[in-house]
Formats: sequence, C-alpha cells, structure tokens
Amino acid sequence: MTGSQQHQPGGPRRRLVAAALAAAVVAAAGILLAGCQSPSILRAEGSAGNEIVTLAMWVFGILAFVLIAVWGILAFDILTGRKRREEDASKTRGNLRIEIIWTAIPAIIVTVLFVLTVITTERITMPDPGTQFTAVGRQWWWDFQFNALGFKSPNEVYVAVDRPASIDVESADVIHSFWVPQMGGKVDMIPGHINHIQFVPLSTGTYLGECSEFCGAQHGKMRFLFVVVKPAQYSAWVKRQQQPAAEPTGAEAIAGKQVISSVGCGSCHAIRGTTLKGTFGPDLTHFGSRGGIAAYTLTNTPENLLRWIQDPQAVKPECKMPQVPLPLQQQKQLVAYLEELQ
Ligand code: CUA
Repeated sequence: MTGSQQHQPGGPRRRLVAAALAAAVVAAAGILLAGCQSPSILRAEGSAGNEIVTLAMWVFGILAFVLIAVWGILAFDILTGRKRREEDASKTRGNLRIEIIWTAIPAIIVTVLFVLTVITTERITMPDPGTQFTAVGRQWWWDFQFNALGFKSPNEVYVAVDRPASIDVESADVIHSFWVPQMGGKVDMIPGHINHIQFVPLSTGTYLGECSEFCGAQHGKMRFLFVVVKPAQYSAWVKRQQQPAAEPTGAEAIAGKQVISSVGCGSCHAIRGTTLKGTFGPDLTHFGSRGGIAAYTLTNTPENLLRWIQDPQAVKPECKMPQVPLPLQQQKQLVAYLEELQ
C-alpha cells in the first residue's frame, strides 16, 4: 500500500454516491413529468400512438439495460482499486477477440433498434384512407379544409372513431408541425409541400392538438381540438358544417350581421351564405359552435369574444387580427351575431 492510495480512501466512493444521487434526481424528475396532466404521449388513444409507445418502451428497456450494465461495471471497477485495473489493462491491451466483442455489441444493439423502428413504421401505415381532410398551418391557427365536402372547420376538427384519419398537411406561411400527442406521430407542415399523416383514433374523446415546430411569437398559442366521435355523430357534424350560416334571430345579432358586413371583416373572414368571402383568417360560418377563440387562446364565451374583438393584440401579441375601432354597442352586436353562428 502506498501513501498516495490512502490519501482519499473515500474519494471514489464519494464520487459514486454523487453519481447515484444525480441519477435518482433525474429518475424522480422523469416520474414527476410522466405524471403531468394530459395530453401525455404515454396515454395513447390512437393506433400510431399505441405502436409508438410500445416502441418507446422497448427502446427504453434496452437502453436502461445498457445503462445499468455500464454503471455496474464502472462501479465495480471504482470500488475494486487501481492495482487490479492496471493488471487487467495489460491483459486486455491488443486482445483482438475482446476488441471484436465490444465493437459487435453496440452494432447489435443499434441493429435491433433499427429493426424495431422499421417494424413500427410499417405497422402504422394503412391502405384505407378513411376520413380525409387537409390541415393548413398558419400563424397562428389551423385551417382544416374538407374540400370534397365543401366546408372549412378552423381550429376544431371531428373524426370518426375506429376509422383511419388521413390528413394532408401543408403551410400557408412558415414551417409548423401537426401534432395530436395522444394520437401519436407528428409531421412537419412545409410551405409549398404536402406531407401526410394517418392513424386510427381508438377511443372517443376530445384531444388537444398543438403546433410542434417553433413558428414565431405565438407558437405556444397555436392549438386545436381533435374530437373523436361515433360514426353517426361524425356524419351529423359534417352535415351541420355543410350548412351555410344561420340567419340571426335576436335583435342584437341581426344588427351584428349588418355591422360585420360593413366594417371590413370580410377582407379576411368568410361566412358562407353572406357577403363575407375572405380566406386569410378563419372561416366563421359556425363560429358559435366552437369551443375556442384564436386557436384556443381563450375559451369561446361572449365576454372573451368581446375582449378579443376589442384588442386582439393584447390577447395574442403579433397575431394577424387587427384592432377594428368600433363603438362598444357595435362590438356587442358583433359578439351577439357570431355567437349565434352555431
Ligand atoms: Cu405553428 Cu409552431
């Protein structure tokens, strides 16, 4: 025993304890994050989501095994002293068989991960197109277009359960990314290029969708609802969406229809069945039936809609909706009209 080895008898052990503590903190953080509220990708409700979660668990298992094996060997080495390591090193240096083995092991691991990934990719591809629509990303909202059926349904889309949802995605401005975490898979929305995503929603419910590619100031407020319903409800939804805008009935709403036609909303917005034919902003034909305002920045209530109309830039800075100066009475009439558009 030389003096140098006895200087810090606790050194390696202390380092090991520190490493173990760090690992425990990382693991605890992981567990806490996994317990976060919806929409967790680990609570998959779509065919692709299920396959991806299964793949993720396999990859996690394999990598956890590798991690534990490497840490185990490391810990064993640290605890059993330098002298033995020096002896070992002289035995293994230039040993061709050992070199081959520890080159082969990572190659096998990577091959297994590759094969599992290819199998998963194959399994989430489907021949039946099912429910088809186009999702166009815009700063900062979602234009869902059912072109064959003749309507648009911004920021809120319905699909039938157990039927493939087949979605063409593109962008009108910058790169966005279509993502419904619980359905699984995400796909970039690229200007001038159409991408495609397909999966089968397996449970009815309302799922949050969001933009998964940083696209400017309000990237974080670019959300939508992905609503999975029974086939009969889906057909009813389509039929309702195909209807032109309802005629207003209340006195305020009737006045609101006059206001909206005269103040220039129609240069950006369309309301089918009226003179408003804009395509730059969301189609408002069935605005009142939707749950959110400004891509779910606000829930759709008359108070929130008034707030939004009065000062869009305060609600969602840098959004493309301008402030239209109007007397309060006319603002309230607009709100009454839009909320009647069921
Ligand atoms: Cu659109 Cu981020």
